[in-house]
Amino acid sequence: MKYAGIIFDLDGVLCSTDEYHYRAWKMLTDRLGIPFDRKVNERLRGVSRMESLEIILEKSVQKYSNEEKQRFAEEKNENYRKLLSSMSSADLSAEVVDTLGNLRAQKVKLAVGSSSCNAPLILKKLELDSFFDAVVDGNDIIHSKPSPEVFLKAAERLKLPPSQCLVVEDAEAGVQAAAAGGFDCAALGRVQQPVRWRMKTFSDLLKL
Ligand code: BG6
Ligand code: MG
Repeated sequence: MKYAGIIFDLDGVLCSTDEYHYRAWKMLTDRLGIPFDRKVNERLRGVSRMESLEIILEKSVQKYSNEEKQRFAEEKNENYRKLLSSMSSADLSAEVVDTLGNLRAQKVKLAVGSSSCNAPLILKKLELDSFFDAVVDGNDIIHSKPSPEVFLKAAERLKLPPSQCLVVEDAEAGVQAAAAGGFDCAALGRVQQPVRWRMKTFSDLLKL
């Protein structure tokens, strides 16, 4: 492993909660009659809850007040947390567990850099809450991805410069954030932008 540290995005990288985010927004948008599909959902990856709502409302003919928007974001979060309620360590794939264990055995420092305010809850459910050397999430940052803030804070907590850390992402906004912070990035999924590494599967990390 050529990196001293790895900073993982959470939703869509360590676990499949990206699908729950989609379903939770879909419940809200169906109720409001706003068109919302997986194509729009791609733009929400890595983006904060309120910024995601603004993207969704681009398709709404009706305009909403800030108070209404606040209530919609809360409703989506309630939908999301209901979907999370049955989550457990069984939702972590064997591949992710084995790869993290292998990297830990190689003494690579491991962190989470997520835009989600639900990250602490999810990590607890996955029984990963005391596994990482650092966790920086939506509760710790002012600017969501594509700002590099979340990754810069994670690198700082790992006591490593960005040049020695790899960011693992599934989102365009996350890839942009990594580049803006001076990090190499490994991308999973449908990311279009150029990245240093393209992964087919999580364990590809062990080939770097
Ligand atoms: C990111 C997700 O990890 O967290 C986004 O990719 C989500 O889809 C964002 O909007 C914020 O999440 P939360 O849990 O704070 O609403
Ligand atoms: Mg993600």
